[in-house]
Amino acid sequence: MYNNIKYYLDKVAEIFEQETFVAEPHELYEPIDYTLRLGGKRIRPTLLLAANGLFGGKEEEVRNAALGIETFHNFTLLHDDLMDRSPLRRGQPTVYCKWDDNTAILSGDTMFALAWRYFLRQPSPRLQQILQCFNETAIEVCEGQQKDMNFETMALDEVSLDDYMDMIRQKTAVLLAGALKVGALYAGAPEKEVEKLWAFGEHMGLAFQLQDDLLDGYGDTAVFGKKTGQDIRDNKKSFLPLKALMLCSGEQREALTKLFAAKDNMDEEEKVRRVLELYNAIGLRAAVEDAIAQEFRTATKHLDDIQADEALKTPLREMLETLNGRKK
Ligand code: IPE
Ligand code: IPE
Ligand code: MG
Ligand code: MG
Ligand code: MG
Repeated sequence: MYNNIKYYLDKVAEIFEQETFVAEPHELYEPIDYTLRLGGKRIRPTLLLAANGLFGGKEEEVRNAALGIETFHNFTLLHDDLMDRSPLRRGQPTVYCKWDDNTAILSGDTMFALAWRYFLRQPSPRLQQILQCFNETAIEVCEGQQKDMNFETMALDEVSLDDYMDMIRQKTAVLLAGALKVGALYAGAPEKEVEKLWAFGEHMGLAFQLQDDLLDGYGDTAVFGKKTGQDIRDNKKSFLPLKALMLCSGEQREALTKLFAAKDNMDEEEKVRRVLELYNAIGLRAAVEDAIAQEFRTATKHLDDIQADEALKTPLREMLETLNGRKK
């Protein structure tokens, strides 16, 4: 019985160590190897393995799905960094910066196809349902990503908190939920429990993206591994400015709306400084932390509801604890 999250994190590390990503033409595969070797937290394959374990699945049967889900996630990062013009990830230059835009596009596309190759490798009586889950998840991630981009050029008061929550549900939360669902499907989990697991993953994913937004404003680049303030430079309608708008006075509202307008001629670093100054003045950080805690509590409730061996839920509870208060 494997009942702690470290077991699954180590397992995922081992799976990636055993896998080769280099091939010819090396111009295509080197950036793939670079990205997947840098690792990151590998939350999604770890969740996939833990969900499989929760319903008594066989580890060997989800090895390929774990590789597939993480390769897909990393594909989204190659394209996302290009779209967001982010210079740094996992403390290293992003692919489009280290190589060029075309490399990020094509190596990224290849990773999406490689993810499919991994998924297709493992037979299962539920393969059709598993592939459908993966595919629908991938489509939702792209829909969420497009909404995120659309919001950049919209005025701050044109984006509602509901629109925002739905956008992050799609761009981030469904992939965590999807990873859990795939793991559970391989294990033959009952449909009803899979649904509860999905809800658990969605709320964990919402908390996770709210934290990501918070870390963009308040994280330490050296720990976070990404250049902070990028959401501000990009005019992202993240949770921070949207929540701030609700806490602001009339004068502050006007200033904030202007700062997040797509067309401004302000020096970028001056803009980041001014936005953070305003956030601090209204005590935004605590309000965001409250919202994060709320999502984690909802996630916990859904996990509590799942009918499964309590001891086997421990890794997932530990995952929530690990993520809670994360700095990277
Ligand atoms: C980054 O995901 C993209 C978001 C959904 C915020 P992670 O924070 O899981 O990135 P890595 O894989 O650990 O680097
Ligand atoms: C990430 O959103 C969502 C996807 C990669 C689809 P962000 O743009 O906030 O992620 P980071 O902050 O660059 O990792
Ligand atoms: Mg980004
Ligand atoms: Mg983005
Ligand atoms: Mg972000």
